[in-house]
Amino acid sequence: MRVLIAGGAGYIGSTIASACLDAGISPVILDNLVTGRREFTAGREFYQGDIADGPLVDRILAEHRDIGAVIHCAALIVVPDSVADPVGYYRANVAKSLDFVTHLLRNGCGRLIFSSSAAIYRAGDDLSVDEDSPVDPQSPYGRTKAVCEAMFADIAAAQPIRVVSLRYFNPIGADPGMRTGLQLPRPTHALGQMIRARDEGGPFLVTGTDYPTRDGSGLRDYVHVWDLATAHVAALARFDALPRPATVINLGTGRGTTVRELLDAFNRVSDRPVQARDAGRRPGDVAGAYTRSDRAKRLLGWAPRYDLDEGIRHSLEWAAIRDQILSG
Ligand SMILES: NC(=O)c1ccc[n+]([C@@H]2O[C@H](COP(=O)([O-])OP(=O)(O)OC[C@H]3O[C@@H](n4cnc5c(N)ncnc54)[C@H](O)[C@@H]3O)[C@@H](O)[C@H]2O)c1
Repeated sequence: MRVLIAGGAGYIGSTIASACLDAGISPVILDNLVTGRREFTAGREFYQGDIADGPLVDRILAEHRDIGAVIHCAALIVVPDSVADPVGYYRANVAKSLDFVTHLLRNGCGRLIFSSSAAIYRAGDDLSVDEDSPVDPQSPYGRTKAVCEAMFADIAAAQPIRVVSLRYFNPIGADPGMRTGLQLPRPTHALGQMIRARDEGGPFLVTGTDYPTRDGSGLRDYVHVWDLATAHVAALARFDALPRPATVINLGTGRGTTVRELLDAFNRVSDRPVQARDAGRRPGDVAGAYTRSDRAKRLLGWAPRYDLDEGIRHSLEWAAIRDQILSG
């Protein structure tokens, strides 16, 4: 079987493509390289172009009649950019997704897996969420994900397509085989900032120390990107047995880790420890959330395999070789 991966030259999509290859599923990648990397498509079937480009999607599906499912990871994902440019974000993430699903319907594609996000939840007091928790995204980016989920569910209710929305928590790590990883040289998330502090010798800033968490720092559910990828392989294998016409599934570890705990883990794993300095909250930051759901285990038979330390170790390994693999 083949699978079409839109956004398959990005961080998560390229890892999914590797996990598919390892599982004997051939990925076909569609990516416009707005943030993705050509290097991540090496040796893979790759079409450079936009998900909204109807003739191109028609051509890909005509040239690969054995594509049995589509994984849609293509999106813009930078929260502050979405605040500054909501028109661009709604166009890229919502309008183009509508075009894309229209092209899929025209070609008779009936299985869609959508990359959604835990950023759509409003967490309760204990910061845990499940799939029935209130949806209340705090940024235009998060709202584009919620709108897409609702839009796909409406379409699946009326058209011959079924949709699984996978709500990712906070991916870390890289392909353990080091084929792909985070393409950005300067990631802004906490782990990226720790790696930067280690490399540059500066302190790591704990941005926000008054959140309602055990130690006041923000909390996240860090899930290894390879585990996210294998969840997609499981979703492909079990697709036809999943609730129809549309379902949502959280992909997290079920463990919340605060920024201070992440730093402790980082200093356990890293050969060069990093010092912390407390700082104020960054605009738009939230206390965070972790999943309390067992739906991924029940429906996909999936459980994360890698722990936090392994995620950090793989992120460090990737950071050390990134520049050899990616130019610029
Ligand atoms: N990284 C995270 O923390 C996170 C968390 C939750 C959900 N997600 C979701 O996972 C998906 C993948 O995220 P990522 O971290 O790999 O980001 P990424 O930027 O690395 O990957 C996105 C890919 O989509 C491509 N793309 C964007 N718009 C396109 C278009 N119109 N046509 C074709 N290709 C297009 C980009 O070139 C890139 O390769 C996104 O949908 C994102 O919303 C990411």
